[in-house]
Amino acid sequence: MTPRRRTSLIVLVLVVVGLACIAWYYLLRDVPQHYKSEEDHYKYGSIGVEAASGMPYWIWRALPLVFPEKMPGPDYRSFGFIFEDGHETPVGMPLRTVGFQRIGINCGLCHTGSVRASAEAPRQIVYGAPNTTLDLQRYLRFLFACAGDPRFTADNILTAIRSMHELDWIEQVLYRFVVIPQTRKAILKQAHDLAWMDGIPDWGPGRNSPFNPAKVQILKRHYDGTIDNADIEPLWNWRLRKDFGLHADGLNNSLDEIFLNSGIGNGAGANSIDRASLMRIKHWIFDLKPERYPFAVSRSNSDIVVRGKGIYQAQCAGCHAFGGDKTGTSIPVEMIGTDRYRLESWSQDDADAFDALDGYAWRYTGFRKTSGYVAEALDGIWIRAPYLHNGSVPSLADLLKPPAERPAYFYRGYDVYDPDNVGFVSSGDDAVREGRKFDTRLPGNGNQGHLFGTALGDDDKKALLEYMKTL
Ligand code: HEC
Ligand code: HEC
Repeated sequence: MTPRRRTSLIVLVLVVVGLACIAWYYLLRDVPQHYKSEEDHYKYGSIGVEAASGMPYWIWRALPLVFPEKMPGPDYRSFGFIFEDGHETPVGMPLRTVGFQRIGINCGLCHTGSVRASAEAPRQIVYGAPNTTLDLQRYLRFLFACAGDPRFTADNILTAIRSMHELDWIEQVLYRFVVIPQTRKAILKQAHDLAWMDGIPDWGPGRNSPFNPAKVQILKRHYDGTIDNADIEPLWNWRLRKDFGLHADGLNNSLDEIFLNSGIGNGAGANSIDRASLMRIKHWIFDLKPERYPFAVSRSNSDIVVRGKGIYQAQCAGCHAFGGDKTGTSIPVEMIGTDRYRLESWSQDDADAFDALDGYAWRYTGFRKTSGYVAEALDGIWIRAPYLHNGSVPSLADLLKPPAERPAYFYRGYDVYDPDNVGFVSSGDDAVREGRKFDTRLPGNGNQGHLFGTALGDDDKKALLEYMKTL
């Protein structure tokens, strides 16, 4: 080789290596984030979703500017996300730089609740409680509609980004030719994978489909026609929940497996999943206690609470108190009589397919098929409304009524509390405006069954309700 050719070769290699370094820095460089407090970690800590399926933060910020007509309100709050002052992203949506800033999801998104004493009162955040306001499906549909719109172009998105934030010229080139087109493609793929959602009843606020998306996206199967819309469950007191059946039907009882599976199900990759971060959350929720009932409640030694406790111990504790014979186990659906769709959405074949997954650094062994719904411990039950696995009964007072007298429809997603009925306000102008209609006559939304306590006299029901506020 002549010296000249050798020099050109060296220059070429340097240019290629230089470009690769730039691409790595701007697209893939992973900057781990860390929160000192457990609460902040729970709300904003990454579990490794961003690298695999995070959304470019500045595109996320740009969408409401480019597509305001597709939003239910002026900003992302209108989907029911919980925002805290001083944070650009909602609780449960971590920011992490992987090349560029990306926004992900963590467990706190669905497992952090909120409550207000009145429409004017400040919102109190409740760690581990189900998020009753978040309408995730509506948010997904917003993203799908944006990506499907011909106005989702590099020019439009970059103009919106530039109105808020400066990108350097390398970022502009990469956004134009890589990041924006790839984001659009990824959202459209997700829309395609989840297209079946449109043929079945909506999730509505506080609910989602826990396993059907995973069957399509992880097991790579066609949608199987089932409906598994389910209410979010609480994450607290897990030390006391040792060996409980997990999820509505108890389809596994290994908390470790459900943690890993939830991480993957929410978009972490086999390699990007941050197991240390998940373990930190797991340890924290071991001893996390449910928030106490914040409204007036009779003193624990008052006659009414003592009477309520007696009824609870005689008629409910065997299935619902820690230490009860059946607490934490699946009770045959014939005995409970509640809506069967969620139970029937999960088969032995699904359990076997999850146990056979081999693309991870771990194997699942605990998935199984059960014949009913788990009788859960009722700690913090006051803030777990609406009730039953499908969230079909708005309040504890309604759950103690015979099914024919429970509301046939009501509004979910409003977080002002109704201390009289023990649940969230679910009717009236404010609930209609801020919530979404839930119709119990639709498939999967049935409010029948669970007749326990429905035959009690009015005074006994009152006493039982009063006692349950203290759980
Ligand atoms: C998109 C909302 C959403 C996110 C995000 C989410 N979950 Fe859940 N989670 C649910 C729903 C809904 C259920 C109940 C569904 C069912 O079983 O029918 C649930 C149930 C659970 C349960 C079972 C609780 C019980 O009492 O049986 C555990 C454990 C759990 N989630 C852990 C996690 C972890 C860990 C993460 C983060 C990696 C996470 N979840 C993220 C919606 C979510
Ligand atoms: C034989 C066992 C059993 C008995 C006894 C029983 N329950 Fe239940 N309970 C269940 C099961 C199973 C579920 C879950 C059903 C579902 O979600 O479809 C449930 C659900 C509930 C829920 C809803 C929990 C949630 O997070 O949505 C409440 C509240 C409740 N029961 C209260 C009571 C009260 C009060 C009594 C006594 C008057 C009682 N139960 C007696 C088995 C029982």
